[in-house]
Amino acid sequence: MTRFTVNNQPVEYRMDPETPLLWALRDASNLTGTKYGCGTGDCGACTVDVDGRAVRSCTISIAACEGRFVTTIESLARDRSHPVQQAFVAESVPQCGYCTPGMVMAAAVLIRRTPDPSEDDIRKAITNLCRCGTYPRIVRAVQRAARVARGEEVIAAAPPPGIDPADAARAVPALVPPPTK
Ligand code: FES
Ligand code: FES
Repeated sequence: MTRFTVNNQPVEYRMDPETPLLWALRDASNLTGTKYGCGTGDCGACTVDVDGRAVRSCTISIAACEGRFVTTIESLARDRSHPVQQAFVAESVPQCGYCTPGMVMAAAVLIRRTPDPSEDDIRKAITNLCRCGTYPRIVRAVQRAARVARGEEVIAAAPPPGIDPADAARAVPALVPPPTK
């Protein structure tokens, strides 16, 4: 059994300790905001925060997470009030949106560690891939989020989600047991 903290809740995974964190989050915890892109550590779609660092969850086993603190996109700010969420919406970053959770998590870690990142800092720290090519918007949004976090700019709150993420996770059709006859 592997024990650590996910989104401020203690969890115990009864899975093979070598299971990648990504699959424990998605399949066991039903936290499907963290995306699978490549499974080889290249795309960043699976980025989560582990002890304050951006980690590609497809490349780390749950055993390596023992005793650590993991934060996923679901718990960044449930009302979308985090500066990165606000700035990504304000700059219309998400297109198909598939890369967005990983980008947002990487950006949130970056502005916490580097409160006034240059364009170069952003390009070096966020190497996530976006097949929609939104890179210029991402740079603008991260710098705007940093200004919001520093209290130098206020932008309108992102619209609240139409459904609580926990309810959305519970509503994944594949996980609803078939009716008993
Ligand atoms: S799915 Fe993890 S880096 Fe691509
Ligand atoms: S918005 Fe489509 S992959 Fe980035």
